[in-house]
Amino acid sequence: MTGGAPATHHHPLFSRLWLLLAPRFDAHGGSDLREELLAGLHGRVVEIGAADGRNFPHYPAGVREVVAIEPERILRERAGVAAREAPVPITVVGGVAEALPLPDDSVDVVVSSLVLCSVDDQRAAVGEMRRVLRPGGRLRVLEHVAAARPSHHRLQRVMDATVWPRCGGGCHTARDTVGTITDGGFEPVRLRRFRLPAGRVPNPASPWVLGELAAPATTGAER
Ligand SMILES: C[S@@+](CC[C@H](N)C(=O)[O-])C[C@H]1O[C@@H](n2cnc3c(N)ncnc32)[C@H](O)[C@@H]1O
Repeated sequence: MTGGAPATHHHPLFSRLWLLLAPRFDAHGGSDLREELLAGLHGRVVEIGAADGRNFPHYPAGVREVVAIEPERILRERAGVAAREAPVPITVVGGVAEALPLPDDSVDVVVSSLVLCSVDDQRAAVGEMRRVLRPGGRLRVLEHVAAARPSHHRLQRVMDATVWPRCGGGCHTARDTVGTITDGGFEPVRLRRFRLPAGRVPNPASPWVLGELAAPATTGAER
């Protein structure tokens, strides 16, 4: 496990909140979503923003190696512990999605779950995914995205301009994440859009998308 992420990505409050709340999310359907996200994967994988490694137990046996990138120190340390228990070999590395510490065309799959809402520069992150993926490689995503309903989208924009990013480690709710990914040259293979079960208060971080997109069939050098 190595360090090497910018100091701006240390979020001690968010990381403690995440460690408290994420197990509840996983116990109430999150684990099933992670299982679906990673089903059938094989080859060499890079997972961006792995946090405390909640996806790690769900990697199928066909995965040869996972490089898990996590900028936040407390979460990265937890991910290192989770990696030792994982069913496949996982190396946890400090870094950010906007500057992946990997060569061009070096992985078969990129996994992003609940991360593109938080990166500083979505376009740069998508460009990096495309650079490190082999031609035709796959991007698996589980992300919450901008709402289509105007009233919900207005609520998202208000939250993004006020409390949400501060409490959520830089999370934004109103991003057109799928649009940014397809603008970056990825083609949807399968994507399903869904809502989490409704709670007593409206959840600004909804709807969600889960699925797979394909990188173009050109090499990093040709891009
Ligand atoms: C909501 S958590 C999701 C964690 C994990 N992917 C999961 O599904 O359980 C978001 C994660 O993205 C990380 N993150 C934030 N900005 C990032 C960036 N620019 N590059 C990579 N990871 C980032 C955070 O540190 C945090 O661990």
